[in-house]
Amino acid sequence: MPDACKLAAGNWKMNGTRADLDEARALANAFPEPGCGVLLCPPATLIAAMAEAVAGSAVMVGGQDCHAATAGAHTGDISAQMLADAGARHVILGHSERRADHGETSADVAAKARAAHQAGLVAIICVGETEAERDAGQTLDVVLGQLGASLPEGATAANTVIAYEPVWAIGTGRTPTLDQIAEVHDALRAAVPDTAISLLYGGSVKPANATEIFAIANVDGALVGGASLKAVDFGAIITALATA
Ligand code: PGA
Repeated sequence: MPDACKLAAGNWKMNGTRADLDEARALANAFPEPGCGVLLCPPATLIAAMAEAVAGSAVMVGGQDCHAATAGAHTGDISAQMLADAGARHVILGHSERRADHGETSADVAAKARAAHQAGLVAIICVGETEAERDAGQTLDVVLGQLGASLPEGATAANTVIAYEPVWAIGTGRTPTLDQIAEVHDALRAAVPDTAISLLYGGSVKPANATEIFAIANVDGALVGGASLKAVDFGAIITALATA
């Protein structure tokens, strides 16, 4: 059985202008052979420029969302084909901020993932419980329920990555205990259709906690928000993953 690939994925969210491409260039220069996958997902306005800025390096570029349709009358939306055309290799789907801010359901996420796969993109499908759901003892039910409903048919390690992101840990500086992360990741590993699918942890990952999180069985990397904006911080996380 092949091992899952290690991946350090950065989610810039709604942050960054062209001046910040220097951070991507710095990463590309610092990690000619990173020892793990390195991905930056900037806002859509920067995808093409970032792909150009890091061309020929080990740094990959991705989107943060796509529409389920290929083209058409969907003002403000972006298709998976457009992301691929701009130089993206991956797309984050079903992030809790999209599920909360845009009412995305797991069925929507599955439809978007199908579109991503058709466009040749790797779909990074996000799942995670709210604090109330954790307090109510529903974490595994919620996470596995989202997984089952968000994963399209035909998901394999070649086209799909799963990110476990507890909603209450995102941007808060709070993280689950290592045992809590392990419990969810073990359950995800048992539930995914291809055991080589990479399982990322996300939520307040930073240089100071990356090493202990990457030592957990079935954690194959991280989806990093705030700490991915600066090459020095994200670089420390990449080093921690490469040496885990
Ligand atoms: P954070 O965000 O690292 O800033 O907590 C993680 C995410 O939302 O992907």
